[in-house]
Amino acid sequence: MLTSLIRICLSRSFKPFEFKNTYSNNLNFENEQDLGLYVHIPFCRSFCSFCPYCKVVYNEDLAKRYKIALIREIQMVGSQLKGEKRVTSLYFGGGTPALMADCLKDIIDCLNKYFIIQNGIGVELHPDDICQSTLKQLKTAGVTMVSIGIQSFNQQCLSALGRKDTGFLNRLQLVHRAGFEVVDVDLIFAIPTQTEEVLLQDIEIAFTNGATQISTYPFIDFTFANNTYKPLSEKEKKKMLKAIVDYCKKTGRERTSVWTFAKAKTGKYSSITRDSFLGFGVSATTLLRKEFKINTFSIEAYIDRICRNQLPTSLTLSFTLRQRAIYYLFWHAYSLLIDPNKFEKIIGYPLFKLYGFELWICERLGFMKKRNNRYYLTDRGAYYYHYVEQAYTTAYIDKMWRILRTTAFPEKIVLK
Ligand SMILES: C[S@@+](CC[C@H](N)C(=O)[O-])C[C@H]1O[C@@H](n2cnc3c(N)ncnc32)[C@H](O)[C@@H]1O
Ligand code: SF4
Repeated sequence: MLTSLIRICLSRSFKPFEFKNTYSNNLNFENEQDLGLYVHIPFCRSFCSFCPYCKVVYNEDLAKRYKIALIREIQMVGSQLKGEKRVTSLYFGGGTPALMADCLKDIIDCLNKYFIIQNGIGVELHPDDICQSTLKQLKTAGVTMVSIGIQSFNQQCLSALGRKDTGFLNRLQLVHRAGFEVVDVDLIFAIPTQTEEVLLQDIEIAFTNGATQISTYPFIDFTFANNTYKPLSEKEKKKMLKAIVDYCKKTGRERTSVWTFAKAKTGKYSSITRDSFLGFGVSATTLLRKEFKINTFSIEAYIDRICRNQLPTSLTLSFTLRQRAIYYLFWHAYSLLIDPNKFEKIIGYPLFKLYGFELWICERLGFMKKRNNRYYLTDRGAYYYHYVEQAYTTAYIDKMWRILRTTAFPEKIVLK
């Protein structure tokens, strides 16, 4: 309901987001600015009950076939370029990319044939992946940033999430000693049994043992997840988010997005907040000026498409002007900053012409402050964003992923 209302108001139309199963082997990305790269590695040792991401249990033979298909997909896309293209960064997400640590170098070498990666390479790590030899492999492959899915250092919270502490603190210290430029630690809040005190302790443990950034995600109960224990209430989430913000402010850690906080003068680990990106692998998404594409979630269907020299796109959304503008605003608001000049460069229309009234309202309600002709989200604005983002996750992402988990190529998905 809330998401529909926002969509209708901002798009000035009742037209829903309509994803269709049309696809093309040609991607129009040659002229995209600030292009990022994402590679999805869908393998896990075992599944966590709370996790909605596209994954399968690791199997050596399947991983070998997946790697071949992944390299072929990169070649199919990269060979469309006339020369090498500069890109901002490369992120590996999952799943658990470290399960293919010995393949990452080959995948990166293949990408390097077509792209010049300017701001580093990031990899998501499950804490159980962390050991000297894997970290060495990552460094040799050129990885500069890591994000560790700790979730909590507290035993009770971990067991409510169905996880066991296998020496998380020692593993984080090992990563610290390995000397990556950015070390992000993922923490979940509003876990049953969690108190504010436990949460703030988790934050302090992360920062004092090597994290340069923390990502604090509110626990979301996806309809297809297998959670024995449910998240705390929205009221509790609101209190906990405020406690995180106040604590980080007090201890000199900068808020870098609605859900991330960093030590001063450190780089950001952020695989989603980019103006355009190319995604490779199952479930990976591609965002371009005119369209948004999602690859199939089925590994077999993915490999089969690639073997037939076809891109593994499952669904495509062709943006209307305002839909593209909403997408832009959504992710820039998440990063707490909306720059009208950048907006006009990407969207092709002045921000004030499209959303002058909404910006005025947001300023009046205290959601944003204007400084030097740019709009900054306030803590109040960030709280409402956090609320809407969860509603959007439930209404859009949950619905979409629920279908894509079981249907490799749905005819269409309509998000209202
Ligand atoms: C792809 S996942 C995990 C990466 C890595 N495989 C791991 O297990 O540590 C990325 C992050 O999303 C967050 N996440 C996953 N499911 C969530 C949920 N239901 N609610 C809130 N955050 C979630 C977790 O913090 C997780 O570390
Ligand atoms: S949280 Fe990580 S390890 Fe657990 S199922 Fe999700 S991707 Fe796999």
